[in-house]
Amino acid sequence: MTDARPERRPAGPAEEGEGWWRHAVIYQVYVRSFADGNGDGIGDLAGIRARLPHLASLGVDAVWLTPFYTSPMADGGYDVADYRSVDPLFGDLAQFDALVADAHGAGLRIIVDIVPNHSSDEHTWFRQALAAPPGSPERARYLFRDGRGPDGSEPPNDWESVFGGPAWTRVTEADGRPGQWYLHLFDSKQPDFDWRNPEVRAEFADILRFWLDRGVDGFRIDVAHGLFKHPDLPDTGTKRSGMLDTSARPYWDQEEVHEVYREWRRILDSYPGQRIGVAEAWLPDTARLLRYLRPDELHQAFNFAFLTADWSAAAFLEVIDSTLATFDGHDSLPSWVLSNHDVTRHVTRYGGGEAGLRRARAAAMIMLALPGSAYVYQGEELGLEEVTDLPEDLLQDPTWERSGRTDRGRDGCRVPLPWAGHEPPYAFGPSAWLPAPPTWRAHTVDAQHGDADSVLNLYRTALRLRREFRHARRLRWLDAPDNVLDYATDSGLACTANMGTEPVEVIARGELLLASRPVERHGDRVVLAPDTAVWWRQ
Ligand code: GLC
Ligand code: CA
Repeated sequence: MTDARPERRPAGPAEEGEGWWRHAVIYQVYVRSFADGNGDGIGDLAGIRARLPHLASLGVDAVWLTPFYTSPMADGGYDVADYRSVDPLFGDLAQFDALVADAHGAGLRIIVDIVPNHSSDEHTWFRQALAAPPGSPERARYLFRDGRGPDGSEPPNDWESVFGGPAWTRVTEADGRPGQWYLHLFDSKQPDFDWRNPEVRAEFADILRFWLDRGVDGFRIDVAHGLFKHPDLPDTGTKRSGMLDTSARPYWDQEEVHEVYREWRRILDSYPGQRIGVAEAWLPDTARLLRYLRPDELHQAFNFAFLTADWSAAAFLEVIDSTLATFDGHDSLPSWVLSNHDVTRHVTRYGGGEAGLRRARAAAMIMLALPGSAYVYQGEELGLEEVTDLPEDLLQDPTWERSGRTDRGRDGCRVPLPWAGHEPPYAFGPSAWLPAPPTWRAHTVDAQHGDADSVLNLYRTALRLRREFRHARRLRWLDAPDNVLDYATDSGLACTANMGTEPVEVIARGELLLASRPVERHGDRVVLAPDTAVWWRQ
């Protein structure tokens, strides 16, 4: 710990009473692609520090940083070689401390990503495991097994990697012969830990303390549902289909994982200032997700059911209603998310082009009025689309190679942000590791800043208004025509969204506060064009 350790913690309206995270808006920074501070074309901590004013003026409460730890970057840093350091590409620990201090000074909390399911194959422990013989304590930190078949040349079971191909890779033993296999649910450069080994557990408890001591406000827990595998490592007998495949598997959502989060909660609670744990868990239903949010476990979990809902009033109503019903009577509140660094940007998912953008604007208003917290992925406040035509030789996501070059992977939502200017890379830095399209000229922060109708100003206004209504806990559905989503919260905010293809006339629900696009008023009636959301003060 250095002298730069911040003593000051943000204390805003959300600090009071029930816990800041319950109604917070948390902004996801994909570090590599946010802002380049030292001019090498790769986003870094210095770049984030320089651009904190953007986040403060946007009006979010906290920032989640994707992994910036020492890593060979086989999976954008989700392959960690040293959990207690900053990769030189992104800065150093002093810069991290300065970022935390600056963020806290600007009223923003900082959440860091922790990757407990797997390390990099370049982590000291994995190198030691490779050098040690089968059955050694070094191998017991990971999941090494003998292969099947007479010469052990078949993988130990039929599990597949989330990125494609088998989830096992065979190693060469010290004597030069083909040897055991190790499990990797993701890339072969991401060996899975054996969480039944107490040494692994102790190590991560210590890593959490390391970052809590440096002042972080919480952790986003990568693949939180994956840590434990069924002890028999049984075959599944079925193929899987990538990240969004939430079907039950002997490697997801095992009971033992909850004991780890109980321990982590005790650690978080032993620090002042309400430090939180957020689960990234892709599960078949919200009821399973809720088990991670029991009062002695984690604070929050991404609600991916909302993210995967199609653009229709029926689909949105279904997912919002069932989520809130599941949370009913529970101490926790849902968190809502439309995009992140693993999925196609929602402008594109909702159809792309003008229509996609209109829907994305309306979706933001639908999300930000809901009870609970919300996550905003960098660039969604600029209305960015997925970049679908990146040159193949620039693709970096391991999915591309592991799928036999059939799945282009997630690079299209990771293109560096456009800040200013008329030419790529739009002041991200002097260059950028992935090229931005010429259409982003109109999407830069600078271009949108002074335009009252821009997506950026819609987010700013919505986030400012939200503060007034943020303590909502409940929602009631209002009588709405077909294709219209219409609800009011117990904090006095109502949201009406026309998700159909025809204009609809609705009765005003109160004072019109905000509209995602212009509306026509006729006395106490308002006409909403297709893909339009409005907020009312009731
Ligand atoms: C999580 C991350 C994703 C990463 C994977 C493996 O799902 O969000 O980016 O590839 O875990 O760590
Ligand atoms: Ca850089």
